[in-house]
Amino acid sequence: SDPDPLQDFCVANLQTSDVTVDGFPCKQTSSVVSDDFFSRALSKGRSTDNILSFNVTSANVLSFPGLNTLGLSMNRVDFAPGGLNPPHSHPRATELGLVLQGQLLVGFISTSNVFYSKIVNEGENFVIPRGLVHFQYNVGKEKALAITTFNSQLPGVVVASLTLFGSKPAIPSEVLAKAFQVDQQVVNQITSKFGN
Ligand code: GLV
Ligand code: MN
Repeated sequence: SDPDPLQDFCVANLQTSDVTVDGFPCKQTSSVVSDDFFSRALSKGRSTDNILSFNVTSANVLSFPGLNTLGLSMNRVDFAPGGLNPPHSHPRATELGLVLQGQLLVGFISTSNVFYSKIVNEGENFVIPRGLVHFQYNVGKEKALAITTFNSQLPGVVVASLTLFGSKPAIPSEVLAKAFQVDQQVVNQITSKFGN
């Protein structure tokens, strides 16, 4: 869903400059080399030794500047047994996934609040419409690996728990207590887990 490119390529110059554009300015064509169009960003998964037992590794414009203006990117998502990629959404892209290894329970919720889900096995695809909240949960006994692709060079990610309970500064607990119909103690308990 990114805009169409206006030239063959525009390898990102990620150095800060005082010119800001929607995306990144292009490196001079005379200094563009083959390596700008190849990447090892996904060659290794990041550690799943964390509270959720999962990790995301991204090949997007930030780790692979050759993607600038080309409107797509890819992640690898590694799961230990029981690993959870928690409910989140991508404001700028639809997500097309492929399970390479293991068994994932994948689900998303529509704007009409309908939950669509299925257990996805090795070799099978799933699609998450742009902007909708979704998750993947490793329900198999072994580790799992998925590749996800996006129609944006930088899809963005909003993690439901972090956005509401981990913002800086924090959302007033009164607001969250009223929104979730619980007392502020419950809000404070959740907030304390997300770095506030
Ligand atoms: C999976 O949901 C991902 O965002 O890579
Ligand atoms: Mn996602």
